[in-house]
Amino acid sequence: MRIVIANQKGGVGKTTTAVNLAAALALMGDRVLLVDADAQANASIGVGLINREPNLYHVLIGTASLSEAVYPTEVEGLYCLPSSPDLIGVDAEIKGTPGWEYRLRDVLRGTDYDWVIIDTPPSLGTLTILALTAADKVIIPVQAEYYALEGLGQLLETLKYVVNLLNPRLELLGVLVAMYDRRIRLSREVYAELRRYFGDKLFKAVIPRNVKLAEAPSFGKPGVIYDPTSRGARAYMELAKEIRHAKVKSLR
Ligand SMILES: Nc1ncnc2c1ncn2[C@@H]1O[C@H](COP(=O)(O)OP(=O)(O)OP(=O)(O)O)[C@@H](O)[C@H]1O
Ligand SMILES: [Mg+2]
Repeated sequence: MRIVIANQKGGVGKTTTAVNLAAALALMGDRVLLVDADAQANASIGVGLINREPNLYHVLIGTASLSEAVYPTEVEGLYCLPSSPDLIGVDAEIKGTPGWEYRLRDVLRGTDYDWVIIDTPPSLGTLTILALTAADKVIIPVQAEYYALEGLGQLLETLKYVVNLLNPRLELLGVLVAMYDRRIRLSREVYAELRRYFGDKLFKAVIPRNVKLAEAPSFGKPGVIYDPTSRGARAYMELAKEIRHAKVKSLR
């Protein structure tokens, strides 16, 4: 299953979710490819890969093959197709060429990972379109704050556009509350509002605000490895369980 993590709003926990969900699934014994489709390269850094070449940029412009640009990580079963600031140039290189929207999908065709997890930038531009076109499912991380729902309309419109024109199989896997502060009453109210709005598409797993998750990237480790007993790590393990269970269920 190919899962894209998307929200054009910045700093909502996309990268933290991509890295920790990918690592959690690998810890459970699955083979996982983490694709970093953001020129900020935070997901790559989060698994200890800094400025690797070749990377996603080279694969997208056709100067490297996928296998040349996929690197193992410290976590057994977790592989990464990293990014670098080069990726900023991908727009100019491919946009306008026929079928550019399908480039990432074509690159990933034939791979046999149990899961491909794709991190995206805080925009609805070229890289997010490439990622949405390559995926089966989308996870939308949101913060449990007053403006959580703001901007979601635009994101849902983009998803509709992609489903209608580029990728009819794309489905919403779920909305994830990715920085929950239970001490704040607003968090609870916003959670209840999200529950009303998204119903069973809101993940039961809720990711608490947890400093271990924020510290982990500076050690080049996913939070679930850096401090497996932390509340943040345990929440991401719960999310991975929920998603694995949903996959098994949908196969029956
Ligand atoms: N549950 C959490 N608890 C504490 N800090 C968190 C949590 N999730 C993410 N962070 C921190 O918040 C910041 C933003 O998170 P992250 O990079 O995952 O968001 P993003 O949506 O990928 O941002 P961008 O839109 O810039 O790509 C980072 O410094 C990250 O370490
Ligand atoms: Mg990010």
